[in-house]
Amino acid sequence: MCGIIAYKGKENAVKVVMDGLKHLEYRGYDSCGICLSLKDKVTLIKKVGKIENLEKEILERQKKENLKSDVGIGQSRWATHGKVSEINAHPHFSCDKEIYVVHNGIIENYEEIKKSLLKKGHKFVSETDTEVIPHLIEEYRKKLPFEKACQKTFKELKGLFACVVLDNKTKEIIGARNGSPLVMGISKDGLFLASDIPAFLDKTNKVILINDLEMVHLKNEKDYTIKNYLSNKIIKRKPVTINWTKEEAEKGKYPHFMIKEISEIPEAIKKSLIQNPSKIKKIINLIKKAKRVIFVGCGTAGHACLVGKYLFSKYLKKPVDFISASEFPHFVSTITKNDLVIAISQSGETIDVIEAIKKVKERKIKVLSLVNVMGSTLTRISDEVLMINAGPEKCVLATKSYLSQLSLILLLTFSSLNQKQKIEKELKKLSEEIKKLLNNKKFIGQIKNLANLLKDSSHLYIIGRGLQYPTALETALKVKEGDYLHGEAFAGGELKHGVIALVEKNTPCFIHFSKDEEETNTLINSMELKSRGAYLIGFGYKKQKDFNKNIVLPEVEEYLAPLLNIVPIYLLTYYLALIKGLDPDKPRNLAKSVTVK
Ligand code: BG6
Repeated sequence: MCGIIAYKGKENAVKVVMDGLKHLEYRGYDSCGICLSLKDKVTLIKKVGKIENLEKEILERQKKENLKSDVGIGQSRWATHGKVSEINAHPHFSCDKEIYVVHNGIIENYEEIKKSLLKKGHKFVSETDTEVIPHLIEEYRKKLPFEKACQKTFKELKGLFACVVLDNKTKEIIGARNGSPLVMGISKDGLFLASDIPAFLDKTNKVILINDLEMVHLKNEKDYTIKNYLSNKIIKRKPVTINWTKEEAEKGKYPHFMIKEISEIPEAIKKSLIQNPSKIKKIINLIKKAKRVIFVGCGTAGHACLVGKYLFSKYLKKPVDFISASEFPHFVSTITKNDLVIAISQSGETIDVIEAIKKVKERKIKVLSLVNVMGSTLTRISDEVLMINAGPEKCVLATKSYLSQLSLILLLTFSSLNQKQKIEKELKKLSEEIKKLLNNKKFIGQIKNLANLLKDSSHLYIIGRGLQYPTALETALKVKEGDYLHGEAFAGGELKHGVIALVEKNTPCFIHFSKDEEETNTLINSMELKSRGAYLIGFGYKKQKDFNKNIVLPEVEEYLAPLLNIVPIYLLTYYLALIKGLDPDKPRNLAKSVTVK
């Protein structure tokens, strides 16, 4: 889940690569590094920790030397092989220090390659799988030109990877992908390769999407070739224009991406409704025709799948299921050609979702995907794709994308009931309600007080029933990943079957409720908690006198409540992270999209 970037062009590569790394940092922030090929020498700088450490070092160096180059590569790492250290940070290099490589993914056969290279006298300095790539290219380069040596190397690598190679001799760059994301950017001054589009979006939104088994050779600031490195076939592909603005990919006036993206929720809901009507019609037919619908996703997108399961079951009376992508292999054999698989993924790169869909496609089963990142792998392996239009989401914690996913699922649900206009009107009204909440100082004050109240808590239990059960799960995930607070969610009815044993005096418990058939049962469950001494905090459309605290929300239809109830949770997660001195955008041990197994 690392972020890689490369640049060849007229601008100073130091700045371009560093800007790119800052935009990629949400993909992994254990260590980072940059390599610049200057006229007569190479500058290689690697640091443990965040990009700011690397930036400090570069500023120091620039006081002593003129770090100006027209070609450079960089990487921000999420460690898989080898501990977090400067030695294991990327870029890695060959014995002759002429070949430099940054990589995202895992080389599964690296030990075997390493063994054969050690026999040929190569010296390895790191514990990483990546380091075999520059040494193997060096080995083949003894007899082959740079491009051929790279091509031969890529053919030999097993596993999922995207990598970029810088050749100090020719100052040329070659990139290749097989399973991990790689995109190319074209500006009037130069050429970019990166793990995703925001890395160079402030320079250009003209993008060429690179497919698996393809390599790209950047020869100078404008000439490049793309070929399939197995078949050697040259590929001519037109650039696409990405309708994201650089402002969208930057924090702007906000201190963190998380609060910026929470503030973009009202717009995200509206934008998710901007869909091609004939496409929606076609997809509604797919849903109607399907014998069974199976939702697949991970993390927050998995919770959106679960909301889809409840809605399709209750309103479309459709046999429906949700299978977490990481467990999907155990269920794929039960899915038939008459079924429809709906995959949900913000990044479109989550490896468990990609692999699940590849298995489904092997069985010729129809796949619809709801995705946020244009050109991502999932958009290229699915039969039908609906973009959720949430715009770039850079905080590791998904927020606005969840609301966009739920809005699109509601659009599909009620369009299937010929109530498209009705749900569009209700969602636009809801987005206004949420905008009012986000600008309501008293409401924000309430959330900040709650964050303060929870700052020393180590456990939090959350209940919800029906459509509010996924809300409870999303709440638990958010306080875990954002605040390192052990949050655990239960379907209200599960309480008495064991978990209520965890509750003691003043144990904080969140109650998600809405005006629906489950309201009474949920309140009964909360009284069972209260009688064991729990401190009840309610999230719902009215004040509950027996609760210790009430976060009162506008009254909405039950199917809209999951979108509303999660908004105060996202705000709470943000303010609690600040109180605990945590980085809301880059929680420890996590990354925005999980692209390795
Ligand atoms: C995790 C993110 O890595 O992946 C979560 O931290 C996200 O926020 C999950 O929900 C699934 O990601 P995606 O891109 O498939 O929706």
